[in-house]
Amino acid sequence: MRCTKKITDDLIWVGANDRRLAMFEGVYHVPAGVSYNSYLLTDEKTVLFDTVDKSVRQRFMENLTAALDNRALDYLVVQHMEPDHSAALMDLIDRYPKMTLVCNNKSLAFIKQFHDADIDSRVHIVKEGDTLNTGKHTLNFIMAPMVHWPEVMVTYDSADKILFSADAFGSFGALNGALFADEVDFAKDYMDEARRYYANIVGKYGTQAEALLNKASAFDIDMICPLHGFVWRRELQSILSKYKHWSSYAPEENGVMIAYASVYGNTENAAELLACRLRDKGIKTVMFDVSVTPASEIVAAAFKWSHFVFASTTYNAGIFVTMEALLNDLTAHNIQNRAVAVIENGSWAAASGGLIRDKLSKCKNITFIGDMLTVKSGLKEAQLSEIDSLADALAASFPAAPAQPENTAIPAGVDMSTMFKLSYGLFVLSAKDGDKDNGCIINTVTQITEKPLRISVAVNKANFTHDMIAKTGKFNISVLTESTPFDVIERFGYHSGRDTDKFAGYLDKTQTVCGMRYLTEHTNAVISAEVTETHDYGTHSVFIGEIAQAFLLSNEPSVTYQYYFDNIKPKPQRPKEKKKGFICKICGYVYEGDVLPDDFICPICKHGAEDFEPL
Ligand code: FEO
Repeated sequence: MRCTKKITDDLIWVGANDRRLAMFEGVYHVPAGVSYNSYLLTDEKTVLFDTVDKSVRQRFMENLTAALDNRALDYLVVQHMEPDHSAALMDLIDRYPKMTLVCNNKSLAFIKQFHDADIDSRVHIVKEGDTLNTGKHTLNFIMAPMVHWPEVMVTYDSADKILFSADAFGSFGALNGALFADEVDFAKDYMDEARRYYANIVGKYGTQAEALLNKASAFDIDMICPLHGFVWRRELQSILSKYKHWSSYAPEENGVMIAYASVYGNTENAAELLACRLRDKGIKTVMFDVSVTPASEIVAAAFKWSHFVFASTTYNAGIFVTMEALLNDLTAHNIQNRAVAVIENGSWAAASGGLIRDKLSKCKNITFIGDMLTVKSGLKEAQLSEIDSLADALAASFPAAPAQPENTAIPAGVDMSTMFKLSYGLFVLSAKDGDKDNGCIINTVTQITEKPLRISVAVNKANFTHDMIAKTGKFNISVLTESTPFDVIERFGYHSGRDTDKFAGYLDKTQTVCGMRYLTEHTNAVISAEVTETHDYGTHSVFIGEIAQAFLLSNEPSVTYQYYFDNIKPKPQRPKEKKKGFICKICGYVYEGDVLPDDFICPICKHGAEDFEPL
């Protein structure tokens, strides 16, 4: 029975899911399955964007037949010739004799390599910038070589502002009834799989992925339809900003990924001791036994974390087999811009450490930290100082003060110097109601009196955090610093806590005496207060709070509003196409229409009509 999903009035998802596949491409485990997306546009001409893998070909054919509703298929756009997206290509050629294949020269060569078919008369070749009008829609073809194969191209539909993005912005995981990323808690439940997909499938080609991002930025995109995973129709910035990170090989988080290969547990013991020392210093750590955790997960983690420790026993006078395979994988995926420490073990001729360094020296911008630690069979008491030294060296290489360790006691009482961190800047205002932690971005926190020590915060009534504070009478302020990445602003400022867990993925769950969480990274001070007065100012409430606890986390400068605009906030992309409307000068949101209502409030940044200007 057909199982299709409507995307717009004339666009239908006709793909299918596979939950039986053990290893995608024979190498990546997919315990949550995988989707093969295919999209049918039913304009004056009918257009199909790619097909599917052979494992789901039958369901796909049923879906397509139903979605065509007795019409013939006019065009098949071949964006990617890899067989997981082209297994039904020859079926369609046979079934729809008047169908034209729309592809580029490279795709045509691949079609002929995979299939012994005379198709030249059926092909319409496109190149960069070519367009195809199908009635109401105009398709713009954009070449995206090496994202992930050389023939890849993406397609922009200028009528509905949809980017059909081929492998880009895809993810492992079957769709499970949902089709849109906003139907699930993507950040919490799917971002790791999106990272694993990117790192392993496209990670080697960061430059090419960046080139595609640059090309795409010239288009006004409302929706992204990838060949795997969810369709993006809201909060596109959340996946776009991840792609900017990943394609530039910049770490997403400060912390140490420790990967070890241990035959009898002694190398593992050294790695564990180092992890404990690092945690004692408040540094985040993740650990992988490379003989147990699939390499694709470790490659994905490597794209996330800033520092690596590789610990390996010596084996056949070389690196232990599973560690060697991992390092080959990482170098093949072009990992770069990381700090690395090495531990080796060898009972008679330790050699793995030097060989690990040799391998990683071929990667760009790898900095080796501390002295290599050599273990002879098992770590001895006398060597604990070497573990300490390595932990010190790693800690010293972090740019900012490390995060508070998990569940570590935080200073009680009130440190008055926290007041010196307040400026007209950016703050995460957090609250807790029952089990729900939440927070939003605000820009006004002011000390009012010293005895008793009171502050005021102004918060828009539309924010869920506002309602939580009004109900519970407590709030925390995390004073953000200049190192704050846009991701943090986006997470706390661009989403609603009503349907998002904004603290998802934050490992540190430490709470202030008022029982609420705060940010431990990119934060120089934390202030916890109980509400004593509330003042109504129309769109905003001003809460006056008496401070119950206040402490410093780092000496990094507080971010000012001006610094944020100059250095953190991405510059708004103005759409190239001329259209009528107004753009928010604060966040770049575009309101389409001839007249902007006087009482209009920007749904993104909550500023009023006075902060909009005509396009
Ligand atoms: Fe899912 Fe590169 O193909």
